[in-house]
Amino acid sequence: MEAENSGHVLLFPLPIQSPINSMLQLAELFCLAGIQVTFLNTHHNQQLLCRHTNVESRFRQYPKFQFLTISDGLPEEHPRSSLLFGELISSLQAVAEPFLRKILPAMTCVIPDGLFYYAVDIGNEVGVSVIPFDTISPCCLWVYLCFPKLIEAGDIPFKGNDLDVLIENVPGMQGLLRRRDFPFYRLTNCATDLYCQLALKEIQSIPRSHGLILNTFEDLDGPSLSLIRSNCPQTYVVGPLHLQLKNRLADKRMPSSNSLWEEDHSSIEWLDTQPIESVIYVSFGSLAALTKEEILEIWHGLVNSGVRFLWVMRSNLFREEEFNHQLLKELVEGCKERVYIVSWAPQEKVLAHPAIGGFLTHSGWNSTMESIVHGKPMICWAVYVDQRVTSRFVGEVWEIGVDMKDICDRYIVEKVVKDLMVTNKDKFKKSVDKLSILAKQSVEEGGSSYNSFEYLVDYIKKLGR
Ligand code: UDX
Repeated sequence: MEAENSGHVLLFPLPIQSPINSMLQLAELFCLAGIQVTFLNTHHNQQLLCRHTNVESRFRQYPKFQFLTISDGLPEEHPRSSLLFGELISSLQAVAEPFLRKILPAMTCVIPDGLFYYAVDIGNEVGVSVIPFDTISPCCLWVYLCFPKLIEAGDIPFKGNDLDVLIENVPGMQGLLRRRDFPFYRLTNCATDLYCQLALKEIQSIPRSHGLILNTFEDLDGPSLSLIRSNCPQTYVVGPLHLQLKNRLADKRMPSSNSLWEEDHSSIEWLDTQPIESVIYVSFGSLAALTKEEILEIWHGLVNSGVRFLWVMRSNLFREEEFNHQLLKELVEGCKERVYIVSWAPQEKVLAHPAIGGFLTHSGWNSTMESIVHGKPMICWAVYVDQRVTSRFVGEVWEIGVDMKDICDRYIVEKVVKDLMVTNKDKFKKSVDKLSILAKQSVEEGGSSYNSFEYLVDYIKKLGR
């Protein structure tokens, strides 16, 4: 493809649902701005994406867009589950490094996921601008940026088992961040822990980059953003991306799905028959797995609360065992009229639906942003990494929901569901609606995220000249 004056960007997402979704939204925004885009996906995810969405025909309307695919280095039958995430990341790196070295000289800019620290070095080697896109929550990214200081101060790994001890060496989060809110709360050795090492490499690559892209908006994350900017002044804050895209599409429609699984639209038909704000949507994103005990406690808590619910039971939701169809059949039997189960939902449409009154979530960053945009308060059952910090912010900083953090029994679940959907419904709804309005304003012409995206486009176009 011929590089034109508009610049040519390579987008390289982490090979999981959430970053693929956000990067494709960014890709479409660049296409609308007239920038040439190459989207690098793994063979495996490209197959899933093409099978379950109209992504190929959608992007065909942009003549300066192309998909490129590489192997993720794993055999086709590999489960690619969250428990084996580290394996996926290192096998992909072995394939991606030589590929990037070959392809980057033809680009003017590369936007890798923040976790691909090696793309920053390769970009610098071949003289191409690198602007990582960190698809995790900014509050967690700030905690990552404090890791070296925390290690030096002896705060991590933790000494002793008390998870309620406050971590006081993260500026801006004193008195807020407990050990249990820390991304790697089970960390025992920083030097040998794969995820801690990845986070360290990620933050060490930031000063060698030419900027940073974040999917949030100033009115939500202002304090974390100004701290991040003390490390990376050129931070483009362009979110909520799906809303930014919606606003810039000619017909202002909700952006099409970028799902790796088949969406079950019967969930929307079921919601159409339910009263306004009566249903709680339950989903733990694309990767997080729960133990059978956790699933059962959450289930019984929901049933005992008397509230209706729509639950996404992914085939790989159970942590230590195969999906138990018989168990699910038995559970549903007693409460058919107020429960609906799907294996994958059109989440944005679900969250936009007037029948949804709340969201029981794992606090993945995309889910959190989508919930805020659609004005749905949350109950957080965070599993790992950024989810643990984000859920603390949902409960204590933004006050748009309840953080269940580590206490998952049916009585607690029943209590928090009633709290969110009945007792304190108005309070939570008022705070989340306020943020939803600010989110919408940020992507309107002249809004902070709108302007930041314009700066980013200008920067890339200037590189192409
Ligand atoms: C992962 C990590 O778990 C999370 O900590 C990090 O913030 C981002 O990467 P994931 O589990 O994929 O995220 O969750 P999330 O960020 O919430 O993204 C899930 C995406 O899948 C959302 O965009 C959501 O709309 C979509 N989704 C989810 C569906 O379309 N249907 C579903 O049934 C469930």
